[in-house]
Amino acid sequence: MDTSSNTLDIVGLCGSLRAGSLNGMALRLAGECMPQGMALEVIEWSQVPPFNADVLEQQGVPAPVQRIRDRIARADGVVIATPEYNFSLPGMLKNLIDWLSRGADQPMAHKPVAIMSAATGPLGGARVQYDLRRVLLFVNAMVLVKPEVFIGNAQSKFTSEGQCSDEATRQFVAAQMAAFGRWIAQARAMQAG
Ligand code: FNR
Repeated sequence: MDTSSNTLDIVGLCGSLRAGSLNGMALRLAGECMPQGMALEVIEWSQVPPFNADVLEQQGVPAPVQRIRDRIARADGVVIATPEYNFSLPGMLKNLIDWLSRGADQPMAHKPVAIMSAATGPLGGARVQYDLRRVLLFVNAMVLVKPEVFIGNAQSKFTSEGQCSDEATRQFVAAQMAAFGRWIAQARAMQAG
């Protein structure tokens, strides 16, 4: 990863915890396709516990959640690649966002976010994206509107080693990452103004 100070530091969150996740492959493709000057680090978050307001009140933010809050707070943007589970968000991803949404110094507030989804079905997760956008509204994230990326029949678009084998998918993802770089610049300008 290029860590020079003028490189945009992007955190990748995969909505699937599966080792062979197609969304994990999509996220890695996003990292490969980013324009020069952007770098992606996919972060691991499987240790995040179930949200419980009693735990938050009595014991504070659990260490695995605090680590993710701090990492996102430092980042210039977040890319979320998620499957659709039963027409909506995977429970664990919603649970993570619930943890991020509590307390002061909310890491997602005014954070530029790009979302994509990969699914084995033909719609590529069309329904989850709109639910995810709705949830991200509450945390004041600045979600890129277009171009959208839905990777349908995703199992046919990646090799068993996780490489993208579909040129159209690569181009869609590259176009979104280029737009995301511009969106981050616009978001900064809005905040400065
Ligand atoms: C799915 N899948 C699925 N696909 C879809 O297009 N719409 C849906 O509503 C669902 N629902 C659903 C629920 C649950 C619990 C599972 C496990 C799966 C299929 C899904 O697209 C497929 O399993 C993907 O491969 C999951 O993404 P990852 O884990 O490969 O990133």
